[in-house]
Amino acid sequence: MPVNEETRRKHEEPLRLLVLAASARKGSLNERLARLAADVIAKKGGTPDFRSVSEFDCPSFNLDMEKESGIPAGAMHFRERILENDAFIIVSPEYNGSMPGLLKNIIDWASRFRPQPFNEKHALLMSASPSMAGGNRGLWSLRIPLEHLGTRVYPDMFSLALAHQAFTADHQISNEVLAKRFEHNLEAFMSLVEAAKHYPCMKNAWVEFLGEKPDPATDRVE
Ligand code: FNR
Repeated sequence: MPVNEETRRKHEEPLRLLVLAASARKGSLNERLARLAADVIAKKGGTPDFRSVSEFDCPSFNLDMEKESGIPAGAMHFRERILENDAFIIVSPEYNGSMPGLLKNIIDWASRFRPQPFNEKHALLMSASPSMAGGNRGLWSLRIPLEHLGTRVYPDMFSLALAHQAFTADHQISNEVLAKRFEHNLEAFMSLVEAAKHYPCMKNAWVEFLGEKPDPATDRVE
């Protein structure tokens, strides 16, 4: 089938990926991992949109506040970055076996927009922690609100254990096997996002694989 000029041009556009570092701390291990993810994306031909969670900070969610003064600027900015990118990656610390409150708060605020911005977006989750589990439990808790909101959360997640000792002086992952796994995880996610962007039939297959019928009558959100 002949490919028209517009389709060709669209296929040549690089993938745009929001990379959100979900710790506001100076010297954050998760920020370090997020910057590395952004570098890998650029190396594989994508355009990373690196952001720190502190850019999107909002007061604690309160419905009265929303009614009186609307959705705060931080959540508006977060929504805009989600919509401007083809997919998003969250690199988050684990706090007490779960996600940081700061992150849940901006997800709650951004979920108040209509159309709801997380719906049908693809996401990849990553974490870093000085612990042996690398903060992986926090990512399982983060899946819950995202999947509830209709985000297609990639099955494989990457958690960097003993993260305080895991980087080289030039900010690479020192263990070669782990470094390869990290790159492969990002590359596989980018392939899926590319397929979802350019080949809607592949997207439907993926949605059906997740056990959902792509039928407007059964859409969970909206
Ligand atoms: C932690 N930390 C932590 N680590 C972990 O692996 N599992 C956990 O449940 C927790 N819980 C926890 C709670 C709170 C309130 C704090 C402040 C910290 C340790 C955490 O992983 C460590 O501080 C990381 O360095 C935080 O990530 P950043 O800021 O370095 O990106």
